[in-house]
Amino acid sequence: MNKNVKKCLFPAAGYGTRFLPATKATPKEMLPVLTKPLIQYGVEEALEAGLETMAIVTGRGKRAIEDHFDISYELENQIKGTSKEHYLTQIRGVITKCTFSYTRQIEMKGLGHAILCGETLIGDEPFAVVLADDLCDNKKDGVLAQMIEVYEKYKCSIVAIEEVPLEDTNKYGVIAGEEIENGVYRVSDMVEKPDPKDAPTNMAIIGRYILTPDIFDILRDTKAGKGGEIQITDALLEQAKNGKVIAYKFNGKRFDCGSVDGFVDATNYFYKKEKGE
Ligand code: G1P
Repeated sequence: MNKNVKKCLFPAAGYGTRFLPATKATPKEMLPVLTKPLIQYGVEEALEAGLETMAIVTGRGKRAIEDHFDISYELENQIKGTSKEHYLTQIRGVITKCTFSYTRQIEMKGLGHAILCGETLIGDEPFAVVLADDLCDNKKDGVLAQMIEVYEKYKCSIVAIEEVPLEDTNKYGVIAGEEIENGVYRVSDMVEKPDPKDAPTNMAIIGRYILTPDIFDILRDTKAGKGGEIQITDALLEQAKNGKVIAYKFNGKRFDCGSVDGFVDATNYFYKKEKGE
């Protein structure tokens, strides 16, 4: 069986309440940093890592995502041959290089549940997961490309981690483990959003995962955890008990675009980058 990672799953069913009223009729994944929606940054990161099949778990009110990754016949016809045509070059490139498939999460039962909903699109092969809220950038290889390299070596689930201030552990899944290479840890414990006093470390999981397909069976048996939701962190802990989860301290920057502060920081960062500052 071909064990290469070819597919990337995007859980994109969440409400984006922190961005209301903007997210009332617009999916939060479609909020733009400069001129590009968050989810397109994620798709481009996946493409750069060599993944060409994008599996998107959507929900009610998310149809704009499907339209975005499709041609807009009328618009394209209108601007064809004009000075504005170049505005569509990048998204056209993305659309021609990838295949997109969609399924809907009917009930919001947590990230673990959203990932389980994606099983029908993924099947029995390892896959990447991108949470588009976490916008990442790196001068060289993107975060997913770096993680694929780690996967090739260890052939088990990989989570991206970053050190966060201890008072912020209650916003993240937090890991503990033994450092087996520089910045690479064999995970021994993981806790979803612990209070700082209960956090095993300050090493937080950010929204990039490579998961082996046995995660689906584990998720099917995973009970609701923190916040009454089915947590991917709890399912990963089952794999970690068998030494099958690696945490990787990625190179690059990460912006929490699920918060207004992080969104503004990302906007300023990409604006300066575009201006060559
Ligand atoms: C989710 C995960 C959490 C992880 C975070 C990364 O939380 O449950 O473990 O640290 O994504 O962004 P959410 O931000 O969806 O509440």
